[in-house]
Amino acid sequence: MVVAIDGPAGAGKSTVARATARALDFTYLDSGAMYRTAALAYLERGGRPAERAAEIEIELGERVLANGRDVTEAIRRPEVSEAASQIAVEKGVRAALVAKQRELLDRGDWVAEGRDIGTVVAPDAALKIFLTASPEARARRRALELGADWRTVLRDQALRDEQDRSREQSPLRAAADAIELDSTDRAVEDVVGQIVALVRDARRGSLPTPAGPG
Ligand code: DC
Repeated sequence: MVVAIDGPAGAGKSTVARATARALDFTYLDSGAMYRTAALAYLERGGRPAERAAEIEIELGERVLANGRDVTEAIRRPEVSEAASQIAVEKGVRAALVAKQRELLDRGDWVAEGRDIGTVVAPDAALKIFLTASPEARARRRALELGADWRTVLRDQALRDEQDRSREQSPLRAAADAIELDSTDRAVEDVVGQIVALVRDARRGSLPTPAGPG
């Protein structure tokens, strides 16, 4: 089964998705790492972003490999974040990466994290979570990761949010059947516990009702 976790940057998706996958013994899919890997290939080699995205072989796990090369740290650099957000608006880039994501999600149990997992990549996901947090909380978390001033992050974030929500290709929005969770004042374990309980409910719902005694 697929558990989709979508939402804006800084809502705590990666931490929550990783921990949920661990708790359930599911595989974690970081779709953002794919956009970042394609962006790095484009920055290094030029050409058309969609071609770079289509041809690159991406392996996700403890480390991120691009055509066999370890790019785990390189894809977190600020210029790669910026390029990832720019190439993610291109239809051809999205088509290439969504195809790779669907191929992975086709078999097994997954917690897949991104912006469009519940709406585009896996519209039939057994459980869809849209994780949010207040703009201030998200900016503070990002600032801590980046070692930057949170007010500056807040300003950039407002711009990025607007771009993500208004872009033509797969704008950031909750699927109609997604459950919205606000992580603002909640501990990670608390949010993860709630999602794990929802997965158990979803599983029960998908099983045939057991025959009662007698
Ligand atoms: O989640 P992240 O910051 O690693 O994502 C990197 C970029 O890729 C970000 O600008 C949003 C984009 N992205 C996307 O458009 N769709 C996804 N499913 C995942 C990420």
